Amino acid sequence: MKVLIVGGGGREHAIAYCVAKSPRVSKIYCAPGNAGIGELAECVPVGVMEFDKLAAFAKENCVDLVIVAPDDPLVAGAADVFEAAGLRVFGPRKNAAVLEGSKAFSKDLMKKYNIPTAAYENFDSAEDALAYLETAQMPIVLKADGLALGKGVLICNTLEEAKEGVKTIMLDRQFGSAGNRLVVEEFMTGREVSVLSFVDGKTILPMTSAQDHKRAKDGDQGLNTGGMGTFSPSPFYTEEIDEYCRKHIFQPTVDAMAAEGRAFKGIIFFGLMLTEDGPKVLEYNARFGDPEAQVVLPRMKNDIIDVMEACIDGTLDQTDLQFEDNAAVCVVLASEGYPVHYEKGYVIKGLENFKDREGYYVFHAGTKATENGIVTNGGRVLGVTAKGATLKEARANAYEAVGLIDFDNKYCRKDIGKAIDEI
Ligand code: AMP
Ligand code: GLY
Repeated sequence: MKVLIVGGGGREHAIAYCVAKSPRVSKIYCAPGNAGIGELAECVPVGVMEFDKLAAFAKENCVDLVIVAPDDPLVAGAADVFEAAGLRVFGPRKNAAVLEGSKAFSKDLMKKYNIPTAAYENFDSAEDALAYLETAQMPIVLKADGLALGKGVLICNTLEEAKEGVKTIMLDRQFGSAGNRLVVEEFMTGREVSVLSFVDGKTILPMTSAQDHKRAKDGDQGLNTGGMGTFSPSPFYTEEIDEYCRKHIFQPTVDAMAAEGRAFKGIIFFGLMLTEDGPKVLEYNARFGDPEAQVVLPRMKNDIIDVMEACIDGTLDQTDLQFEDNAAVCVVLASEGYPVHYEKGYVIKGLENFKDREGYYVFHAGTKATENGIVTNGGRVLGVTAKGATLKEARANAYEAVGLIDFDNKYCRKDIGKAIDEI
């Protein structure tokens, strides 16, 4: 079969890697793709938001399955457009992707269906939000309702900071229309875990857990980024916690969406905080995480096409989802200065070291093929992933593999997976 993957980052490279492994797949297209994906797929120079062009391309090239990976097209209704064109699509429709697209929607859903999450209030006006903050406990968390490249969350320690935050989100509109509404949320403490899951509208199959490192610098210092590295599984996500989450969070979320007439088919990514009062939902995403996919997917034993088709057909209850009994660590190689200001266009050396090296992967995020070779083309450049029998071994392997790659202004965190040492 022929598959079109919509997207062009590290997550999409990890998806393409799994799709390429499927004996059922004869041809992969990726729009727009990147230099690494180009080794597995034919890259198509069409943007992820150009739905009509993508649909026309898929029809013309007899694509059997379209996989929509990023949040922006999903929230804007890409799946609906492709379905209307008669295509088979993996990814939630617009009315279900709202689970990620509106934080106010997801908070109201959790409240209505008793799914554990932080206490909150939604606001449509800055005036009301400011009045509420006067009597609220600090620290407090402000969240722009809509998509804001993962930057629309402000943790405020004082009333002054919180007032400034309301101004930033609702009045200055720093995140555009994402700030039309505001969620003001109780501050929680605990360890964070990401659980991605396959969903077919009624059945949910959680994948192995992972943990991201969102800050730019070691010791969780510096600015928030798209993610500087991940490890999987999370040793803090115990069987007991998993059992609780399946019963009180995962299945109830799927049932709630179905009850609301918004049956969810695709990936639900649960951002969880393991608090003293039990696991609570920090956020939902309607897609694979990036760079969570880079540590979760290489450990998946199933044929990804079979699982995705089961999601579309509503037969996930007949799928036995399995992961290898090992671990993986991904270290993101970024351009020095990311996420603020950085140079690009530097030649990347050492990529050939990963060819046919079992258990090692170099997933491309911001790269470009040029006459001089593959060059850096973004803030996050590569995700170097390695497996190991244990988390410690996987981490040692990943950092060793980081040394195989070189480019000017290469930067990475040195402490990805440091939390492992606490167990
Ligand atoms: P989100 O995009 O909602 O996952 O938020 C980004 C990050 O902000 C999360 O990964 C947490 O580290 C932090 N965060 C979000 N909500 C809260 C909360 N209620 N309490 C404490 N930290 C939070
Ligand atoms: N790694 C976090 C995300 O994909 O949103």
